[in-house]
Amino acid sequence: MAKVMIGDDDPDRRKIGRRGALKWLLGGAAATAAGCAVDGFFIEPRRLSITRRVIHSGGLPHDLNGLKVGLLSDFHFSPGNDELLLEKVVGAVRREKVDVLALTGDYMCNNPKVVAPMLEILKHLDAAQGVFAVMGNHDGWAGNRATIRREFESAGIGFLINQHSLVRIRGTVLAVAGTDFVWLGKPDVEKTLHGIPAKTPILAMVHEPDYFDTVVAQRPVMLQVSGHTHGGQCRVPGIGYAPRRVKMGKKYLYGEYHSHQSKLFVTRGVGTTGLRVRFACLPEFAVLTLRT
Ligand SMILES: [Fe+2]
Repeated sequence: MAKVMIGDDDPDRRKIGRRGALKWLLGGAAATAAGCAVDGFFIEPRRLSITRRVIHSGGLPHDLNGLKVGLLSDFHFSPGNDELLLEKVVGAVRREKVDVLALTGDYMCNNPKVVAPMLEILKHLDAAQGVFAVMGNHDGWAGNRATIRREFESAGIGFLINQHSLVRIRGTVLAVAGTDFVWLGKPDVEKTLHGIPAKTPILAMVHEPDYFDTVVAQRPVMLQVSGHTHGGQCRVPGIGYAPRRVKMGKKYLYGEYHSHQSKLFVTRGVGTTGLRVRFACLPEFAVLTLRT
């Protein structure tokens, strides 16, 4: 007489159950991977995030309490792909009404001709005390400093290469100081800060964040702003781990850091290099409010 097996005691049924679970898991993993790919390639690179952060600075003069510094970086502008994103950037900057806006380099990937059409959009950026820019390593590798400076200045943007500019805000002088790019460039922090009166607060702009240690060894700064790392460009959601680290951006990847009284903020930037992909790492416009 044939043996009748019931429920989980039936080996055929157990096999089908395991196979079904495996299929379900593989299907789920494939759907998750596809969802991540769509998000990383088609959604995130086009979405602008605004990060509003209060940064406490012990040496901030009373008149500068509440100073709003806007920070944008690493456009790596690609004509035909990035116009809409840059228009969102300009709209966000104009709405935030920052005192000073810093652009910390890498406007191109490897074609200096993209600077002109990019500036057709960025010339509408606005900040009460001025918009300032510095060179990034890609700009230095592919472009020419003098040409880039001329293009930016024609668009009403101050361009700082190992120099500073003194701006008066509510009766107090602030030094906005920018170095040349660091990775194969000619940064000169001593020359950049030379002549800034003692006790004048300094907003330092350096493309590569790891140069922070060199800057503060020369003189404390109220705040250094940097880009270059893209925040890793692709990160593990939840824990924020980024497997990709670039030279001169290995120590300071994203966000706020400090060394004694000096503060550093590193932005994720706006654009992408390599694969046009961002994951758990949205393009960013950072608005930093300085408080005593
Ligand atoms: Fe860079």
